[in-house]
Amino acid sequence: METSCDETSAAVVDESGIRGLAIASQDAHAAFGGVVPEIAAREHIRSLDAMVRHAMREAEVDHADIAGVGVTAGPGLVGALLAGVNWAKAYAFARGLPLLGVHHMEGHLFGTALEHEGAQPPFIGLLVSGGHTLLLEARAWGRYRLLGQTRDDAAGEAFDKVARRLGLPYPGGPQIQRAAERSAAARGAAARGAPGRFRLPRPMLSRRDLPGDPAYYDMSFSGLKTAVARIAGDLEEEGALADAVDDLAAEFQEAVVDVLAEKTRRAVEQTSCRRVVLGGGVARNSRLREGLAERLGTSGELYAPSPRLATDNAAMIAAAARFRMARGERSPWSLNAEAALAFPGLA
Ligand code: KG4
Ligand code: ZN
Repeated sequence: METSCDETSAAVVDESGIRGLAIASQDAHAAFGGVVPEIAAREHIRSLDAMVRHAMREAEVDHADIAGVGVTAGPGLVGALLAGVNWAKAYAFARGLPLLGVHHMEGHLFGTALEHEGAQPPFIGLLVSGGHTLLLEARAWGRYRLLGQTRDDAAGEAFDKVARRLGLPYPGGPQIQRAAERSAAARGAAARGAPGRFRLPRPMLSRRDLPGDPAYYDMSFSGLKTAVARIAGDLEEEGALADAVDDLAAEFQEAVVDVLAEKTRRAVEQTSCRRVVLGGGVARNSRLREGLAERLGTSGELYAPSPRLATDNAAMIAAAARFRMARGERSPWSLNAEAALAFPGLA
């Protein structure tokens, strides 16, 4: 079960992979320009039974076939998480099954591994979502070393906030990508790779950064958002913002991709770990996948999830739960939702 934000999802997973997966994306939030926590929790409660039925029907399994229950216990919106945690606890208790609370971001790593046989430790993990931006080294499943993270806004959060400032609807990530594609098409193939009309900073990226500095891997996206807002404000005064939205969105996306791709390249270089596993909603961004592949070149091997598994889903949570249950881990019946749950297994 996955209910940490605005996707209600249930899945059935076994050793062969995904047997059944149902995802309901809540559209009730669009009118508010962002996720409304109270609405999210209520929608989860309404959809959970149906999602479980769908996933089980697709998997062609019965309740008696289920061997364990995994559920996202955090991080996320606490009310939304509670809907899933309570459902999972009730189901597991009633059926006498083991229960396991999963960390949502660790789940994203397992999501990519569900689709790619090669996405196995040791690897560098780049997790980019609406709430988190993490660069880590996975030495084994469940054994991680945090290399860097954002010091302020998450990458997806920056996409969403910049989109909002440019007058694009929520969620902003896909809208920015589309605007950037329009900008590229208008500028023509000849302009590919050439600097465009706007130039934004690449925060926390300098040739003088040295391995060992925390800044070598850390990121920051809040200043970038402010830089966009300042340019947008000036353009607005001249009545020129509408015509500039696509180009500005394109440059913003380039700046985020440059930072993420270079930090990841550094991690590959410093750890001699060739494999890179990408996860989280922002992994849907095709320019990010392209930029990472370009920057890594032949020194890296990129594993990216398909759009379906990049988005929040229960298959990745079930896969993470299966791994931990196989090691004998169980959550107690007192399992609770934790909005700021710490990443498990960090050295
Ligand atoms: O992992 P996710 O589905 O939910 C969280 O765990 O937060 O990530 C959602 C984030 C949102 O910020 C959304 O704008 C972003 O992923 N996103 C994208 C794209 N599609 C979704 N960001 C950039 N480009 C995209 N195509
Ligand atoms: Zn997520």
